[in-house]
Amino acid sequence: MNHFIDWEDLTTPQWWDLYRRFEEILAAPDDFRSAAKGRTLATLFYEPSTRTRFSFEAAMLRLGGGVFGFSDPASSSVKKGETLRDTSIMVSGYADAVVLRHPREGAAKAASLYSRVPVINAGDGGHLHPTQTLTDLATICRLRGSLDGLSVGVCGDLKHGRTVHSLLRAMARFPGVKITLICPRALTIPDYVRDYIKGVPCTESDNLDTAIPRLDVLYMTRIQRERFADPREYNRLRGTYVLTPGKLKRAKKDLIILHPLPRVDEIATEVDDDPRGKYFEQARLGMYVRMALLLSLFESGSEGYWPDVKHPDGARVCVNAGCVTADEPLPPLTRDDRCAYCESLL
Ligand code: NCD
Repeated sequence: MNHFIDWEDLTTPQWWDLYRRFEEILAAPDDFRSAAKGRTLATLFYEPSTRTRFSFEAAMLRLGGGVFGFSDPASSSVKKGETLRDTSIMVSGYADAVVLRHPREGAAKAASLYSRVPVINAGDGGHLHPTQTLTDLATICRLRGSLDGLSVGVCGDLKHGRTVHSLLRAMARFPGVKITLICPRALTIPDYVRDYIKGVPCTESDNLDTAIPRLDVLYMTRIQRERFADPREYNRLRGTYVLTPGKLKRAKKDLIILHPLPRVDEIATEVDDDPRGKYFEQARLGMYVRMALLLSLFESGSEGYWPDVKHPDGARVCVNAGCVTADEPLPPLTRDDRCAYCESLL
């Protein structure tokens, strides 16, 4: 694995290796106190974050490494108009790995073209968020051993929720998984995500109450206000789903309730006292699984190479206005008739 941009960068055996490493770290964190000694991680956050940035930084510090970066691009040369290309070339000369969060879809893929060290996608617009998926799967596997045969409901803003997109892509790999998509019609998954789960048994509903009794895992998400072009549409849809102790009466006794966080109002705080609510534990485990990811990227020895693609010859702007190609010239890459950055159909 050179970069971790998408779940597809990880094979299933690599996932299980990573999971085993995560369990080892969790069992004896002190044994890993110097595992990344002398290494440096750059965290470039062009969008707000609490858990993802802190858990990466804490992970690196706990491995004995160092961290630098920004949490507000206005404090860097981005403010002066520096391109993602130039920032990536430059920062990859200083760090051993780069964690990038960006409002543009495909930004991490773009950065990886110019980086001489591994780039980790910490969220690219409403597209993907594969390290949150590592956290989600690690939590489920720790509680249940695997995802095989589980009935998983994902609820909320499935259109803009990047954690949902990456999670669905990953779940399609586990045999016997059944998916229930719970959302208003206006917030259903994009067509490229529908492609990820082709062949997986999937039902769709807009009703959380009727879906809940059959679920083993319920993955709640917030309605992503910042991704709506029209604030009236956000106001129409906010508050559609609120998980309450009353709703949970019909749920299985061993249900696992997850949420990538931050929560707005979609899980009532009373649910925090229900032993089935695992979202804070999920956030805690996120640091350990990121420790495992950093170690495997460092071990893969992919740092220090100069990437092939240096010049954005023949740059083209994708049909998706949210794509990173709208911001700066990038090499015109396609994959199966889709934009290789944001996966929009071209
Ligand atoms: C998510 C994100 O940023 O996409 N948060 C996270 O990384 N834990 C979910 C969200 O913002 O709703």
